[in-house]
Amino acid sequence: MRKIAWIIVVFACVSSAFAGIPDSKTRTWLSQTVNFALGKVSDNVSPPDGLPGAVIAARSRTNPDYYYHWVRDGGLAIDALIDVYKESKSKKQKELIRKQIFAYLDYSTLIQNVNTASDLGEPKFYVTGSPYTGPWARPQNDSPALRAVSLIHWAQVLIANGEDDIVKEKMYHAQLPADSPIKKDLEYVSHHWSDSSFDLWEEVKGKHFYTLMVSRRALLEGSALARHVGDIGAADWYALQAKEIERELQQFWDPARGYFVATLNRDGGIDYKNSNLDTSVLLGLLHGDMHDGFMPWDDKRVIATVYRIIQAFSEMYPINHRSEIPGFAIGRYPEDRYSGTSSDGGNPWPLCTLAVAESLYRYANVIAMKGDVTKAKEISEYADLFVERVRYHAYEDGSLSEQMNRYTGYMQSASDLTWNYAALLTAWKSTLALHTQ
Ligand code: NOJ
Ligand code: NOJ
Repeated sequence: MRKIAWIIVVFACVSSAFAGIPDSKTRTWLSQTVNFALGKVSDNVSPPDGLPGAVIAARSRTNPDYYYHWVRDGGLAIDALIDVYKESKSKKQKELIRKQIFAYLDYSTLIQNVNTASDLGEPKFYVTGSPYTGPWARPQNDSPALRAVSLIHWAQVLIANGEDDIVKEKMYHAQLPADSPIKKDLEYVSHHWSDSSFDLWEEVKGKHFYTLMVSRRALLEGSALARHVGDIGAADWYALQAKEIERELQQFWDPARGYFVATLNRDGGIDYKNSNLDTSVLLGLLHGDMHDGFMPWDDKRVIATVYRIIQAFSEMYPINHRSEIPGFAIGRYPEDRYSGTSSDGGNPWPLCTLAVAESLYRYANVIAMKGDVTKAKEISEYADLFVERVRYHAYEDGSLSEQMNRYTGYMQSASDLTWNYAALLTAWKSTLALHTQ
């Protein structure tokens, strides 16, 4: 009798574990929007007047001019395409994405081999492959790390598909000085991660949580790839540098302020970012996430940072005082002044608002894995509100510009920012695991 009771208990646990967190309307919408977001990203890959594989940050050529391949935006967009590729059941869709990614590989190889003002830390290129030579924030060392991550993920897909030969021929080989695209970026990152560089917002020079998180990921995933192709010495070196980065990242916890700060050792760029509170920390946790227990989503410091960010922006933007609109619109950092065309005041951004949603989904996922499905459900429903906020301010057809006006909520600055659609795709990807908990 007792045995039967046990079996029932065990069965109940197992079945509840497999029931997953029920899908919400918002998460159903996210999955329905994948094709739209994918189409929007694809629209900005290989522009007709440029080289195949260039990824424009947005179509807009004036106010602001975003008609460039930013290495960061390009890497993030292509990585999101790889996510879709992995989940897609459509042969036609996969073929299309495959073509775009191979073109991106060729374009990346080309821009790595042109002379630039800041070596591989060069942030933006014309669609024709030459570097932008005007004054700009240089170097931006998250860029080669993100390019490496996207290319490594593609190499992983090819390897899983038995296409090692393509990886060895076009993407990674042991040769030094490096002459293959992934190794070139890994050599640069492994030798320059502790240099001062500009942050992802292209404004502050120093050491950044974001840049270090994505550098760590590039080096650890790169180390595994190097080992796979037999480049053992490099594999050890990359892994060693990643460990050093981990130590450095701990320094960003500010116990007095109660959150992870964005920048340490500032030595250039803007100087009015007094709070050092920045959504870039969440983006760093997201884009650097290897699900390996380093800075997990239920780390008290991480949770504190997520909530401080929500709190700061919920109080400061007028559109967040309108209680009829779900969730809150989140910006880059409280002192932001960039409005897209001038510096007359910062606004909330869809990609920052989606970063909060995605952080909460991943947090919910970790909580669910530890068995507290009720709490996980609550957190994922809270996350949904931030997705709803972005939906609310989007154009009627779902299009998203870089910013949402802080007074009116209207879309503002660069229209159809590629990165926004990549953010929709990664947010969707983060919800998938919730169903299987
Ligand atoms: C352009 C950069 O892309 C943006 O991030 C920055 O805020 C403005 N310049 C102002 O410095
Ligand atoms: C400005 C953003 O601050 C930066 O992160 C981005 O790379 C460029 N715009 C292009 O989208």
